[in-house]
Amino acid sequence: MLSHAENERLVRVGPGTPIGQLFRLYWIPFYLSKDLEPNGQPKRLKLLCEDLVVFRATDGKVGLMANACAHRGAPMMYARNEDCGLRCIYHGWKYDVTGTVVDMPAEPIRSRFKEKVRIKAYPCAERNGVIWTYMGPEKEPPPLPNMEWNLVPEENVNLSLRIQECNWLQALEGEIDSAHAPILHGRIDNKGSINQWVAKKDLRPTFECIRQDFGMSIAARRRFDEATLYWRVNQFVMPFYSLVPPQSKFPDLSGHAWVPMDDENTICLMFSYHPTQPLPQKTRQIFQDGHDGRETGHASKQAFAQKTPSAPYAEFWTKFSPESNFAFDYASQQTTWFSGLPGLWVQDAACQTGISPIYDRTTENLCSSDTGIVMTRRYLLEALAAYQERGIQPLGVKDPDIFMVRAVSLQLPEHERWADAGRRHMRAELGKDFGYEL
Ligand code: FES
Ligand SMILES: [Fe+2]
Repeated sequence: MLSHAENERLVRVGPGTPIGQLFRLYWIPFYLSKDLEPNGQPKRLKLLCEDLVVFRATDGKVGLMANACAHRGAPMMYARNEDCGLRCIYHGWKYDVTGTVVDMPAEPIRSRFKEKVRIKAYPCAERNGVIWTYMGPEKEPPPLPNMEWNLVPEENVNLSLRIQECNWLQALEGEIDSAHAPILHGRIDNKGSINQWVAKKDLRPTFECIRQDFGMSIAARRRFDEATLYWRVNQFVMPFYSLVPPQSKFPDLSGHAWVPMDDENTICLMFSYHPTQPLPQKTRQIFQDGHDGRETGHASKQAFAQKTPSAPYAEFWTKFSPESNFAFDYASQQTTWFSGLPGLWVQDAACQTGISPIYDRTTENLCSSDTGIVMTRRYLLEALAAYQERGIQPLGVKDPDIFMVRAVSLQLPEHERWADAGRRHMRAELGKDFGYEL
């Protein structure tokens, strides 16, 4: 349980809020390269409650700037994307990707006014299909974080992006909580690989957590057989990432960046990757098309329900939302899904979204399987206090290698410590395979 004040500290992300300031110390992944064409229509988006547009200029560079023109606030989402910049349609002011005014066609030819104004713009960087931005206070941004999912070759990764209609922390807490997985995602028919999950053998895991420089390792211990324990170690990675260990049937690593669009909506950037091999075309196809008409961990092509182009992230909203009851079907609880919800991410999203976009954590009743959630909240609150009260930034802001970490699933003899046995497997290294039997 959190006090109202603690909850507010963790969920409000706009400029000047405690966690909003902490997030702004980091590079933030917010868009996929494939979704931006050179000279294409600027896309409106929101990031940490800021109203912005993103576009790809003629020369391929990405610009991210305020949606309000610096002159008199006309919407830049209607701007003309032309010749390496965005031109406001109201009086024609044109900005380059850095936010510099390069033309003011209605001003006297000799006017130097354009040297004095800028539009708010944030630097962007692109790596392996992901666009990142830095919205922080430093003139010189820190290095991009070294995260394995964004460093392995693009053919090893499947990326997807969708908007979920709840606060970022609800979504994060859903994915670091591995007690839910064999229950919520269970099937009552005997179909699908879920029934082969090792985690299904024991629905009462015991949790152990270890504080790390990058965040929190959250280990769930389950009985495998008389002499063996099965450990699933999820990672919370600062400031808003979760990593999920592989299942034996689908040996890929996966996870999310849960990036706040605003206080009530989250940009869910999902990655699934193999550390050393290209993803089989069939796997990629299943992620993109769904599996036998149901959703996998990734939102399928059919899941999207576009909003009008003036909505932020217009192309990334889905038909599985509170408004549609996430396609909940009570009859399917009798025949197919334990949950009555059609597929993995939809089941997660329905529970994470809960009954309101911002959950009131003063009324919850936490139990032993919530240990990882409690520890993660504490980690975040301590990081906030350290930064706000003593000016200490989290270690990963300046040290990009802290993020080279993997989630692991290990079968170990009863008396072996997971932390010792798992240490080297939890360290990500480019080109290194899992290193243990899946
Ligand atoms: S409002 Fe954009 S140029 Fe005037
Ligand atoms: Fe889940």
